[in-house]
Amino acid sequence: MGKRANSMCPRELISRRAFLQLLLKSGGLALIGAALYPVARYLYPPRGTEASVSSVVAAKIGDLATNAAKIFRFGNRPAILVRTPQDELKAFSAVCTHLNCTVQYDPEVSVIWCACHNGKFDLNGQVISGPPPRPLEPYQVNVRGDDIVVSKPT
Ligand code: FES
Repeated sequence: MGKRANSMCPRELISRRAFLQLLLKSGGLALIGAALYPVARYLYPPRGTEASVSSVVAAKIGDLATNAAKIFRFGNRPAILVRTPQDELKAFSAVCTHLNCTVQYDPEVSVIWCACHNGKFDLNGQVISGPPPRPLEPYQVNVRGDDIVVSKPT
């Protein structure tokens, strides 16, 4: 083995060494890139998903029972669609105005409830109790055929 290395000319050894250094450097750069990419995505999230969505099909009309609710995605944020005990359809951002937990519907008492700190909203999105400082952001609801379409207010 040593004999083989000795049989190489100095030029071959230098090019092998240079090749190995290049390989190590490029591997190191790839490692640094792989480590920094998630940090960069966290610090600079992609734009456009939220802004480009103005309406979504939240559910099929037959999929939502009276006095029930469904969480759905509105852009990159959760939203809640409620079919009230009076058979009205209401939709709001499901992001609690206190510390951004996702709210849910409590059919026992017909309120929208945030489990994080027991915040409660009525079926108009207004704060009933708890720490939320503002009402839930309301959305418009329209039924088109079988689709329940939720839109941002104009
Ligand atoms: S985050 Fe909803 S009540 Fe605190």
